[in-house]
Amino acid sequence: DSHVPHTFVIFGASGDLAKKKIYPTLWWLYRDNLLPKSTKFCGYARSKLTIEELRAKCHQYMKVQPDEQAKYEEFWQNHDYAAGSYDQRSDFVALKERLSSLESCNCSCNRIFYLALPPSVFERVTVNIKDICLAERGWNRVIIEKPFGRDDVTSKKLSDHLASLFHEDQLYRIDHYLGKEMVQNLMTIRFANKILNSTWNRENIASVLITFKEPFGTQGRGGYFDEFGIIRDVMQNHLLQILSLVAMEKPTSCQPDDIRDEKVKVLKSIPALTLDDMVLGQYVGNPNGVGEQREGYLDDPTVSNDSNTPTYAQGVLRINNERWDGVPFILRCGKALDERKAVVRIQYRDVPGDIFEGNSKRNELVIRVQPGEALYFKMMTKSPGITFDIEETELDLTYEHRYKNSYLPDAYERLILDVFCGSQMHFVRSDELSEAWRIFTPVLNEIENNKVKPIPYVFGSRGPKEADQKTSENNFKYYGSYKWIGKK
Ligand code: BG6
Repeated sequence: DSHVPHTFVIFGASGDLAKKKIYPTLWWLYRDNLLPKSTKFCGYARSKLTIEELRAKCHQYMKVQPDEQAKYEEFWQNHDYAAGSYDQRSDFVALKERLSSLESCNCSCNRIFYLALPPSVFERVTVNIKDICLAERGWNRVIIEKPFGRDDVTSKKLSDHLASLFHEDQLYRIDHYLGKEMVQNLMTIRFANKILNSTWNRENIASVLITFKEPFGTQGRGGYFDEFGIIRDVMQNHLLQILSLVAMEKPTSCQPDDIRDEKVKVLKSIPALTLDDMVLGQYVGNPNGVGEQREGYLDDPTVSNDSNTPTYAQGVLRINNERWDGVPFILRCGKALDERKAVVRIQYRDVPGDIFEGNSKRNELVIRVQPGEALYFKMMTKSPGITFDIEETELDLTYEHRYKNSYLPDAYERLILDVFCGSQMHFVRSDELSEAWRIFTPVLNEIENNKVKPIPYVFGSRGPKEADQKTSENNFKYYGSYKWIGKK
């Protein structure tokens, strides 16, 4: 109901996530008139800041156009900011008063609490929110960001803690990959197309490769990263979420809980990952590189000198069900690689009974999540002309060409809007999270306890060669003979 006042409270308002993602997202939603009219915003953090200072911190990320100035001023007029500790009740009482005066009414009011906070203060803040700051006559929703623990034990502790304070339908756990266009498209591709749906199984598909690559290193986040590593940072959440959407059975409906039930179900069929099925890497500086590329992971002053934390990981998961038995799902992710790219490659089996002298290559459905959203199907065709040779080509749905003027909102825009709307479809449910940790915790413990050494790879390279070896052992054929052209 757009007449009910809404208040959006940002804990950790002076931090990195707030200035780079949350405030810009709120601004874009406000700019596009997507938020309920009477929405107010209140930041909260330890540092003392004026709205002017907060605004200055966010400025470079807001992308304000010259003709939006008036609206932008209006946006900030709806803001407040309170400095306070994360543990003193009296500070939360002050915040509560602040919120009431911002809302300036005694009617019902809805509140959203965004927790952009380090795990160390998480429990205290949530207790204080629950005890002191909840709206009494409207709904209350809580948005949380990873890390959701660092293994099965700590994650369960956090989930139990949250469950003691809030109902599951009040909790919005963000995995921002679920807000991306092509990730959201996975369900449509699969369940609205007869042709794909009927080949989506072990009879036709040889293997699935889900890749995430970034061309930069830790970039000042070494302190956080060294505690977690790439498996927790990207594989256990973003890549596993993609896998669930690729592999799950068709949900009964598009209702959020029907979808999440299917995701949990497919995760339950996945045995825990083992070290034998993994390749781990850590980047080293490239003496011939430029700028940041010269620095290895261990050169980051916030990383300990003998750190074994992987910055690259590849793991092969298996799904023990009727649809996928024997089909490897290869998850691959790394920092400081040769390019930025997130793609899903569904590789089909060889054509049986070949009559083309072994020249036909496998079909592949490629879902390009970013950059440059695209869906293309690699296939063989007769080389045009008088010849009877065959060659690789593709059926191409590149968004930039097909949907020239469409605006694809950022993942956070969609997700924050979903919270206002009360749709949990693109958020992680606690049982889903617990299955994810079940799959990854044993190998994470083994890596830590045995101090498993990652393989060094050069900043800007494709990562350790051992990973390619492993993919080929897992029925993924890399031909290297064809490149999607994309931009034409
Ligand atoms: C975050 C990770 O969740 O995702 C980062 O913590 C990573 O390490 C980021 O860089 C990637 O997100 P995107 O949307 O830029 O692909």
